[in-house]
Amino acid sequence: MTKIYTSASQIDFSLTDIPSMPAPSNVMMVKPTYFDVEYVINPHMKNQIGQVDKMQAQNEWDHLQDGFEELGFDVHVIDGVKGLPDMVFCANQSLPFIDSDGTKKVIMSIMHAPQRKKEVEVIETWYKTRGYEILHLDSSKVNDFEGMGDAIWHFKRKLLWGGYGFRSSISAYEQISEMLDTPIIALELVDDKYYHLDTCFCVLNEKNVLIYPDAFTENGLELINHMFENVIEATSYEAEKMFAVNATCPDGKNVLIQQGCTDVNQKLRDAKFSVHEYSTYEFIKSGGSVFCMKMMLW
Ligand code: ARG
Repeated sequence: MTKIYTSASQIDFSLTDIPSMPAPSNVMMVKPTYFDVEYVINPHMKNQIGQVDKMQAQNEWDHLQDGFEELGFDVHVIDGVKGLPDMVFCANQSLPFIDSDGTKKVIMSIMHAPQRKKEVEVIETWYKTRGYEILHLDSSKVNDFEGMGDAIWHFKRKLLWGGYGFRSSISAYEQISEMLDTPIIALELVDDKYYHLDTCFCVLNEKNVLIYPDAFTENGLELINHMFENVIEATSYEAEKMFAVNATCPDGKNVLIQQGCTDVNQKLRDAKFSVHEYSTYEFIKSGGSVFCMKMMLW
């Protein structure tokens, strides 16, 4: 079942028609040893060059790792690489998935930012040691694709949500849909503060999603409202300054989120989620928080 959907009127399936996919049980993280803000490739990084407190960043990262372990996930840690300060955002270099026969596969990214291109080969080497089948996009047809920064699986379904406009191109989704034999709902991003889909769209479980609405077009909002029973909205303050939407809900119940997102956290609790708060202030200086500091794996 392959197709790219860009408006709600095109949706010709319901979620129960889509093959199921197990929830991931492993987490990969990249050590923040060389994490820093050394260049500006998104609006959050402006005026932050050299402002990262390295010790604090290490503490924040350690606590987040503990958080995943406390929830029962196996955390696999990759060493950082000198000269690749953004490699710690390991949601971006790849898009992993598991086939119906249990084969683990991964599509490697084509980073938009030249400063981040070398990260991909390091992560690819690691996937090889884990027995993943490695897939590459045709770079003569696709300029950029930043992995799970922009491509987010629906909860436990082989249905992909694909953000495009800043770091990934819609042409990437045409190829990915064919390669993975999966439908893709493409969402155009319109505000450069929300340059990756994971900054404004967080799948909580099959029926619930957390979003920042102003990052999307009308068509995008209609698609989101069509597919989810409950759409929780973040305020602009919490979405922009606290990265509230860059949260993760790996098991459909527990949400790991930046500390102090008071409004979103209340809405999550009202919807019966358990909220676990982590400080990621050092990483927010670079334009990322909980979601992009990890990769969920099978
Ligand atoms: N400084 C990084 C960049 O601009 C931050 C990436 C954060 N990742 C994310 N998926 N939002 O590429």
